[in-house]
Amino acid sequence: MTENFQFPTYFIAILITITRLISTIGKPKPWTNLLPQKLSDKFLDDPESIKLASSDYGNLVQEIPAAIFNPSSINDIMSLIKFSHQSSIPFNIAARGQGHSTRGQAMVRDGVVVDMAHLRKQRNGRGIEVFEDSSTGKFYVDVGGEQLWIDVLHSTLEHGLTLMSWTDYLYLTVGGTLSNAGISGQTFRYGPQISNVDEMDVVTGKGDFVTCSTRNNSELFYTVLGGLGQFGLITRARIALEPAPKRVKWVRMLYNDFSVFTKDQEYLISLKGKNQSHALHYLEGLLLMHQGPPDNWRSSFFPLSDHSRIISLVTKHSIIYCLEVAKYYDDHTQNTVDEELQVMLQGLNYIPGFIFEKNISYFGFLNRVRSGELKLQSQGLWDVPHPWLNLFVPKSRISDFDSGVFKEIVLKRNITTGPVLIYPMNHYKWDDRMSAVIPDEEVFYTVGFLHSSGFDDWEAFDIQNREILQFCENAGIKVKQYLPHYKTQQDWANHFGMKWMGFTEKKSKFDPRMILSPGQRIFNNNN
Ligand SMILES: Cc1cc2nc3c(=O)[nH]c(=O)nc-3n(C[C@H](O)[C@H](O)[C@H](O)COP(=O)(O)OP(=O)(O)OC[C@H]3O[C@@H](n4cnc5c(N)ncnc54)[C@H](O)[C@@H]3O)c2cc1C
Ligand SMILES: *[C@@H]1O[C@H](CO)[C@@H](O)[C@H](O)[C@H]1NC(C)=O
Ligand SMILES: *[C@@H]1O[C@H](CO)[C@@H](O)[C@H](O)[C@H]1NC(C)=O
Ligand SMILES: *[C@@H]1O[C@H](CO)[C@@H](O)[C@H](O)[C@H]1NC(C)=O
Repeated sequence: MTENFQFPTYFIAILITITRLISTIGKPKPWTNLLPQKLSDKFLDDPESIKLASSDYGNLVQEIPAAIFNPSSINDIMSLIKFSHQSSIPFNIAARGQGHSTRGQAMVRDGVVVDMAHLRKQRNGRGIEVFEDSSTGKFYVDVGGEQLWIDVLHSTLEHGLTLMSWTDYLYLTVGGTLSNAGISGQTFRYGPQISNVDEMDVVTGKGDFVTCSTRNNSELFYTVLGGLGQFGLITRARIALEPAPKRVKWVRMLYNDFSVFTKDQEYLISLKGKNQSHALHYLEGLLLMHQGPPDNWRSSFFPLSDHSRIISLVTKHSIIYCLEVAKYYDDHTQNTVDEELQVMLQGLNYIPGFIFEKNISYFGFLNRVRSGELKLQSQGLWDVPHPWLNLFVPKSRISDFDSGVFKEIVLKRNITTGPVLIYPMNHYKWDDRMSAVIPDEEVFYTVGFLHSSGFDDWEAFDIQNREILQFCENAGIKVKQYLPHYKTQQDWANHFGMKWMGFTEKKSKFDPRMILSPGQRIFNNNN
């Protein structure tokens, strides 16, 4: 472990002050070779900016950076990283997308936070470009790493096009989700977002600008995808487009028997449909618990008139499993969509009478989480602590997970109030050459405990999270964390398993001075 991350706050502060001072009094600039003047103008260190960059969606940790960097261009980012890389005492740097991490992953104690939102504003709509590859006739979109998925959706729909793999919530950045994986109900069929990238521009930890793909600079390409920001800053990603559907049939079915529920989920994700019509476009699942309203902020779905009978069902069984699917359609298929859905859903064993359907616009479906967010924001309940835990669980042990975690820990503690998601994915839609880590089985589940808590009781959720992880360890259930959070390097080595050696080798190759994304606490523990 190197010590070179001990870059004192005051040193950057002094550099900024001196360059500013010198530039204002117009004297010779002996320090400009230390911090180029064109860069020093782009730093902020006022209390408000510092405060913003010291917190994230989790509201659980705080790290104070020395300064915020507002890039106007990719060149600025290159200069910044190059400057640190070449300094005798390098300072740490992290891109901050939307700061929607929950454990400080985009924070940098005593270093520099690159505010990607500033670059997005500067580029003002120029960060998303739809084009046709003239040799193949295929359509692609080039998106800046600083862009929000919601804007990618708006821009591609203007051309009647869309991409196939999204996240549930679209106010996240391209660079932020590609550094993790980017998962949702489309993943079982189209793979995570990282499986849908054709090419990227990356500024490495040395400040080099590199275009990479599976054909060119493939080592960097694979390692950056799911790479937790450790190897470079993603400034552009190219993603293939398809014709956009117009509308969506969105269906939920309720189960009280976990094994019946997972059997049906696994059956549905195995449907491939030779002519595509017999395959779903989206599949998720969630738990319904307590006597509260069956809807949560992640989506309001159930008709009000059905709430009371759903609540009775939940009261009777303590946990109800909700299977959620969607099928897209357009003008050509609107007469057949119902029949196709019926064929797919026949033979499923949900509780008779507990199937609910919605017919909504494609945009409304993809943006379904936003209205819940706005509602929580208006109630002051969005910026609260979020002690989340996201796991990938191998299919062979999902039933043990249900009995040990849902039916024991979660029910006994009775504190779980936010959404709990559970749905399966196909391993073959992922690429093991990428840095993202998943269980070693053909089918695995994602389980997300998306807790919101009060400011003084979040520790109870962390205790529950630890208990869940401990249960899995004791029971030999080989779970992997998604959006991982570990404290020791040994934990990281265990997380990456076979990939750990390669991960550390590529770190020394692409970010040898260990400058980037220290908030992940993998190489430089930020303290
Ligand atoms: C309400 C909500 C809903 C969510 N839903 C989903 C979901 O459905 N599916 C899913 O997969 N995830 C989901 N997430 C998690 C989300 O993917 C992560 O929070 C992710 O980090 C993206 O957030 P961000 O863009 O704000 O990145 P940040 O939190 O700002 O950054 C995350 C990490 O990536 C690094 N980074 C940021 N930008 C770049 C870049 N351009 N190049 C290289 N590294 C970079 C940062 O330094 C940091 O280490 C959700 C999160 C929230 C809060
Ligand atoms: C690889 O990169 C070179 C130089 O950047 C470029 O000319 C070439 O077209 C790229 N090849 C492929 C297959 O993308
Ligand atoms: C879905 O709703 C749209 C708009 O209200 C309507 O035109 C269409 O007929 C409905 N389609 C189906 C298949 O129910
Ligand atoms: C669980 O908590 C809810 C809400 O706080 C409460 O209404 C309910 O009675 C509790 N259930 C049990 C079994 O303790």
